[in-house]
Amino acid sequence: MNAHAFDSITADRLRENGSLKWTAFPGTIGAWVAEADFPVAPPISAALHDAVDRGLLGYLPPALVTGVREAYASFAADRYSWVVDPARVHPASDVLTALEHTIRHFSRPGSPVIVPTPSYMPFHTLPRELGREIIQVPMARDAAGRYTYDLDALDAAFAAGGHLLILCNPHNPIGRVLEPAEMLAVAEVVDRHGGRVFSDEIHAPLVRPGRRHVPYASLDETTAGHTLTATSASKAWNLPGLKCAQVVLSNDADVKLWDEVGERIEEGASTLGMLANQVAYTEGRDWLDDVVAYVQGNVTRLGELLEGSGIGYRAPEGTYLAWLDCRDLDLPGGPGSAATFFREQAGVTLVDGADCGAAGRGFVRFNAGLPRPLLEEAATRMRAVLDR
Ligand SMILES: Cc1ncc(COP(=O)(O)O)c(C=O)c1O
Repeated sequence: MNAHAFDSITADRLRENGSLKWTAFPGTIGAWVAEADFPVAPPISAALHDAVDRGLLGYLPPALVTGVREAYASFAADRYSWVVDPARVHPASDVLTALEHTIRHFSRPGSPVIVPTPSYMPFHTLPRELGREIIQVPMARDAAGRYTYDLDALDAAFAAGGHLLILCNPHNPIGRVLEPAEMLAVAEVVDRHGGRVFSDEIHAPLVRPGRRHVPYASLDETTAGHTLTATSASKAWNLPGLKCAQVVLSNDADVKLWDEVGERIEEGASTLGMLANQVAYTEGRDWLDDVVAYVQGNVTRLGELLEGSGIGYRAPEGTYLAWLDCRDLDLPGGPGSAATFFREQAGVTLVDGADCGAAGRGFVRFNAGLPRPLLEEAATRMRAVLDR
């Protein structure tokens, strides 16, 4: 296979660049926080340079708000077959802030938040910071290690008073991309209890080549009626520090409430972030396709390198996150010590599955958004310490 330009990015260069991912745990390979090591897409870089040169650094220009709305609506139509009214696409600083305000304003006051697990770590902490309990709903897992929703457990969580379900699709950390039939089955449970859904689709552009992401709210009137969707170009085009996300509303009642509470939320998005998101959705599509293909090569290679290591692995259907089952490894500190073990012994920093909820204990999350030679080095080092 031909070398890709991303292959030549070295660990030294990444450390010198000073990202959180490569400097928080000095001397290790940064395979933890969910950002990729790929450079900025050329059209985004050009637009940002131009904006700085022109001094476009003031409060959100209205034309840019309109531009992002239209850019996202056109991307959603072309890539997801989802027809979205641009006027219903609202800016926010980031997806977690969108979640915070969804809990505050769009879920029943005081109600627990339902979190299918394993889940992205802040889904456990953020509701609690807002004074909300969370109800963890462990996902079921078939013999091949594929996760699915446990509908009875979900039903019980709503019956226990839960009101807002956090649906993450593609799912961090397990890499599932939900199929319409399984989302409709979830929707039936939500609807039966008059529940609400926060659909976190931040990883949506990053699905396996040839596969399509289906937005939950796009399924039918029921899902549109109970959902707020949040997304951003930040994961796929690697822009999280620019602070910009989109909240897509899909029913009249939410539009009305957003008119009352949305102004402060919208002001959180940065001007440069909005510009970068707009350019990503319009001029960054070829670059995205290249990244998706590169990540697919990475997760396939990871599987080859881990074969026979005792680590359980199923390539993710979406995201650049790989979920590694370390429960059968005979680690000195027990199965819950895998992330510490690999950081200390192999010099590879991962996310500990226990931070993703009790159902994640014994797993680690490996960020495969790495230049391939560094991914190979990380996997080889992990194997070597297991073989010792
Ligand atoms: C599923 C998911 N949601 C939300 C976030 C955070 O996004 P933001 O920086 O827009 O708050 C991440 C970041 O890793 C994520 O993976």
